[in-house]
Amino acid sequence: MTTRLVLCASMLVGLLVLAGCDDSLPGKPTSASIVKRPTDILDPVVLYQENCSGCHGAEGKLGPAPPIGDPLYLSIVDDDTLRNTISKGRPGTAMSAFAQSEGGMLTSKQVDAIVQGIRQRWGQGQVLQGGTAPPYAAKTLGNAQHGMAVFTTFCASCHGPEGKGTAQVGSIVNRNYLSLITDQGLRTIVIIGRPDFSAPDFRNNVPGHPMTDQDITDVVAWLSAQRPADAATAAPTAAPVTKAASTPANTTRGGRQ
Ligand code: HEC
Ligand code: HEC
Repeated sequence: MTTRLVLCASMLVGLLVLAGCDDSLPGKPTSASIVKRPTDILDPVVLYQENCSGCHGAEGKLGPAPPIGDPLYLSIVDDDTLRNTISKGRPGTAMSAFAQSEGGMLTSKQVDAIVQGIRQRWGQGQVLQGGTAPPYAAKTLGNAQHGMAVFTTFCASCHGPEGKGTAQVGSIVNRNYLSLITDQGLRTIVIIGRPDFSAPDFRNNVPGHPMTDQDITDVVAWLSAQRPADAATAAPTAAPVTKAASTPANTTRGGRQ
């Protein structure tokens, strides 16, 4: 850029026509050699690398955001959900909308390419070994009171009795954490764990005792009840059900902020 400015300036000094400056500089690409427009890129590896790897990790794991390259994850989520999530994002979280129709940068062809690429690269393998996985989405709002008991049974050994963490594992009930993750985001993590950070999936919190769909729904309701009401990720529909159980959680929160 600087070189170009200097060049332009010296050409001016030489009383050359300014119009010539921009079009005939040596090294300026001709229209034939111009690189692809960003919307022409359809290579899923490149698209993933450029748009997703910063949060979800280069290989779909070890990033701050959920490990979407995990085979168990890819066995519970369908393509429509992937496409929809990538297109529209998850409001209130770092997961923004990527589709041009939603204000993002990607065409729908590119979103499709990413979905196919994720499946092809990471969605192989018999992860369930004949067993079944809980449904991706919750069927009910859940019972936060029961969720507290579920937490004690399945989670407290690692996350501490109230979820505030231990020397090894950070808090999962603090304001900031819960403000930036949706209920589906929590459900996904409870089902698939964080294998990339040695956190167990729904089958192995207590070895030999897989969590049921109801356990998962309820523990998410318990976590959700501790989310600050003003968080953008707060799900208004869940409020009436979780309200009754939110008192102890509120007290906890008050003490830590
Ligand atoms: C055997 C230990 C262990 C058990 C049991 C366990 N976790 Fe974890 N969990 C971890 C570790 C390790 C991490 C990753 C380290 C971290 O995030 O600090 C983690 C991370 C998490 C996260 C944050 C993930 C993220 O990246 O956003 C959530 C939420 C979570 N666990 C919820 C639960 C819930 C709910 C249960 C019970 C159903 C549970 N965990 C059971 C060890 C465990
Ligand atoms: C700035 C960080 C960031 C970037 C970049 C990003 N994501 Fe995400 N993504 C997140 C977070 C955070 C979540 C969890 C949202 C929640 O709480 O539901 C998420 C969630 C998702 C989910 C849903 C997980 C579930 O619960 O089922 C999918 C699928 C996904 N992202 C795919 C992508 C793809 C593909 C790209 C690239 C086109 C991408 N993301 C780029 C941060 C990011």
